[in-house]
Amino acid sequence: MLLESTGEGIYGVDLNGRCIFINPAGAELLGYTSDEIFGRNMHYLIHHSYANHALMPVHECRIFKAFREGQGCRVDDEVLWRRDGSSFPAEYASYPIRDGATVVGAVVTFSDISDRKRTQLALQAAHLELEQRVEERTTELRVTHDALRRLSAHLNSIREEERAHIARDIHDEFGASLTALQLDLNWLRQRLGDEATLTAHIDRMLEVAGTAMGSVRRILNDLRPGVLDHLGLWAALECLLQDLQERTGLHCTFSCTPEIERHRFGREAEIAIFRIVQEVLTNVQRHAQASNVRLEAQSEAGNLLLFVADDGQGMQVPAQPTTFGLLGMRERARALGGDLEIASTRGQGTTVTLVLNGAT
Ligand SMILES: Nc1ncnc2c1ncn2[C@@H]1O[C@H](COP(=O)(O)OP(=O)(O)O)[C@@H](O)[C@H]1O
Ligand SMILES: [Mg+2]
Repeated sequence: MLLESTGEGIYGVDLNGRCIFINPAGAELLGYTSDEIFGRNMHYLIHHSYANHALMPVHECRIFKAFREGQGCRVDDEVLWRRDGSSFPAEYASYPIRDGATVVGAVVTFSDISDRKRTQLALQAAHLELEQRVEERTTELRVTHDALRRLSAHLNSIREEERAHIARDIHDEFGASLTALQLDLNWLRQRLGDEATLTAHIDRMLEVAGTAMGSVRRILNDLRPGVLDHLGLWAALECLLQDLQERTGLHCTFSCTPEIERHRFGREAEIAIFRIVQEVLTNVQRHAQASNVRLEAQSEAGNLLLFVADDGQGMQVPAQPTTFGLLGMRERARALGGDLEIASTRGQGTTVTLVLNGAT
């Protein structure tokens, strides 16, 4: 009843491999009637070749091998052959039949696993296609990313050029006019002698002119730090720190070895480094609530390491920066062939390190 009712094929063989029984489901799977199979050598009947039609010699047959060695086996990478010459991918298991201690034959169960194989193949194909699409998308993204990076570097350099241009215009136009105004006011003041109300007016005008001149200088410096062009990066950074200390009371220190101090980078690079430090210091001022900030430049194996460390409240360093300050700094650093690293512990401050490979 068991043999009749199961959907799996089940047959038995004697030690010569001849069929001693087969259930109807098994016979049907193979395209025979049970009677046609009794007494036949099962290897030659249904298991004679591999899927690629290459002959399988009996001594390679795992069913036989298994029961001759008195062990069971389970196989799912072979085919079984039907009466009409077609084959199907099969899973089969062979168990030895024992009479006392001696093996007298084997029971083999088998089933058609075409569906499973098809699903497997489809899965593999889908997987492959997915991998290909991911790879394509990755390549596309990389191309877009590279283009964006170049665009960002280009925009930065245009912006710096424009700033320099505006700074020159402001300097020439406003600077000259304000100076002329101050000279004339001074001249007028000397001529007026004791006219107290008039001189008071002129003093106020001189004061306004002076304040305007101060503002112009500040704007100019912001647009294009003159020290950067005249005295170089390190002097400009020192001025930046000094200015920060005077304005905010934040205690600033600067340390840099003499060799590095003598080193001049290219014009573009110096502006970029200056802008990066400027943004780092703006962040310290805006977010850190620090009382000390230290800028330190070191040379290590030809690389320049520039640290800006504050002792403020620290920050959660994002795995990928998304805010424009951090993004801009990192892009600027990468455009210089370097990188920007941020390390921070909550409550213990933040250190931003600019690494420029082969810069010194
Ligand atoms: N030195 C710092 N100390 C504490 N938090 C900081 C520091 N620098 C940056 N941050 C944090 O990182 C965030 C992102 O900085 P940034 O990209 O420059 O954007 P923004 O300054 O416009 O907020 C800031 O909003 C702040 O929360
Ligand atoms: Mg910022």
